[in-house]
Amino acid sequence: LADGPLHGKRIVVTSGPTHEPIDPVRYIANRSSGAQGKAIAAALRALGAEVVFVTGPADVAPPDGVEVVRVETAREMRAAVLAALPADAAVFAAAVADWRVVGASDSKIKKVAGALPTLAFEENPDILAEVSQMTEDRPGLVVGFAAETNDVIENATAKRTRKGCDWIVANDVSPATGIMGGSENAVTLISDTGAEAWPRMGKDAVARQLAARIADALV
Ligand code: C5P
Repeated sequence: LADGPLHGKRIVVTSGPTHEPIDPVRYIANRSSGAQGKAIAAALRALGAEVVFVTGPADVAPPDGVEVVRVETAREMRAAVLAALPADAAVFAAAVADWRVVGASDSKIKKVAGALPTLAFEENPDILAEVSQMTEDRPGLVVGFAAETNDVIENATAKRTRKGCDWIVANDVSPATGIMGGSENAVTLISDTGAEAWPRMGKDAVARQLAARIADALV
């Protein structure tokens, strides 16, 4: 590890979903196993990086050899990411909930026959956009993900510009692809030089290829 190309580089990786409480027993969340984020953290570590792994409640355990910060909500994830900076690079693989419930209840909301609860939402912080647009301590390389179901490259290219990140790893998560929750991924890497489609491969292989590209970019 000490002779890996990423030795001496500090990299923050977010992974998994966030859970936004409705009450102590209920929450809203995006679907995310955390498998791709885990694989990326492991691949960066294997190349010698010091990895801070900020993870929401994922299905998979964190990889070995990384500093693990466990969070539940988007606001906690944001705080953990900011606390982990400065870093040489940041990879935002988490599926952050876009909204949180306004006035989450401290006690379990009772089920009352015939009466339905109403939920109001407010926007969560966009961690990728915030870090991408930092003027001080911005990581030299900021990588975001875009899970799309249609017009993948067009939407992801627009997302890259809107958020201000350096790279977007775009993938087609239409149900027919079987990618969501599966072991394979087919991604397109979008940077300022254009879109590069990678063949469909295992999530571990995607992670190794991405880590190698990050190593090339950070030298
Ligand atoms: O806007 P959208 O959720 O599609 O963007 C996806 C990318 O932005 C991912 O890299 C995700 O980790 C990041 N993101 C974030 N904070 C949010 C929402 C998304 O960091 N609140």
